[in-house]
Amino acid sequence: MKPKVLITYNIFGELYREILKDFEVTMPVSGVDSFTYEEVLAVIGEYDALLSMWNFPVNEQLLKAGKHLKIVANYAVGFDNIDVATATKLGITVANTPDPVVEPTADIAMGLILSLMRGIPNFDKRQRKGNYVKGIMNNLGHSLEGKLLGIYGMGRIGKALARRAKASGMNIAYHNRHRLSLQEEQQIGAEYLSLEELISTSDVLSLNATLTTETHHVINEQRLSMMKPDAYLINTARGPLVDEKALVVALRENRIAGAGLDVYEFNDTVSSELLQLENTVLTPHVGTQTVEGRREMARFASTNIRNFFFGGKVARVNSTKSEQCDE
Ligand code: GLV
Repeated sequence: MKPKVLITYNIFGELYREILKDFEVTMPVSGVDSFTYEEVLAVIGEYDALLSMWNFPVNEQLLKAGKHLKIVANYAVGFDNIDVATATKLGITVANTPDPVVEPTADIAMGLILSLMRGIPNFDKRQRKGNYVKGIMNNLGHSLEGKLLGIYGMGRIGKALARRAKASGMNIAYHNRHRLSLQEEQQIGAEYLSLEELISTSDVLSLNATLTTETHHVINEQRLSMMKPDAYLINTARGPLVDEKALVVALRENRIAGAGLDVYEFNDTVSSELLQLENTVLTPHVGTQTVEGRREMARFASTNIRNFFFGGKVARVNSTKSEQCDE
């Protein structure tokens, strides 16, 4: 009998079918984007594998209902939507898609930095409305060259961002739970700082860390108050790394220069206050949304499932092996 796979979201369906040709695959019919939580809960007991979107809640109730479930392959590098502790207790493997997200997410972070420092979205808006403000002094942005980019979370995305920022002449500092080797620091050209030093000296502070109980609200009111008044905050990782209410106050009172956000604290719903502010650039969680990146994520997630059943590398997140990746 073929193992049964349930896929919560229908993108690149033909790719899934090709890679999972030795499986019995169920996914939403074309025209329907995704299954609801209730729909998945009702049938999960029949499936051996679940391929879940990054925002689909794979909680204790669902995992326990998955009586035959052996693997949850997340279509994401993040896995904060999955109760990994319960999955591990139940002997269910959790896998993610670390490789394909790296370059596209670093592109968006770099794009937000450029957009904020050079005011690109504001200029675009004004230009279209025909109210381009004449006069050099009214249109000044800030150069990237010589500015300090502080990267919180120097995993693969952090490193890819560092490469891009270096090419723009920025200096790089970082903070990680585990410091990199000196050799790697030299290769990247990044200086290790304590979290407090990083926050208080960066001209641009970019968050590229995984969301865990330790990193939840790592940027809170107190840490925002340590940032330089002309510094920018960039978040392309996960919204709850930042206390969004405190961020709104800091931005409203111009205690920092601006924020470029691709992710939001409240389930990707943007706080209405953020929408009113001029010193923000906001994108709707599109860090990994390139045709190439998304296709590779689909390939990677379904290959995780195929390899789990038929042998080969699986990017496990609840493994003692060192396959786990920082975002
Ligand atoms: C996207 O945010 C991901 O985790 O892949």
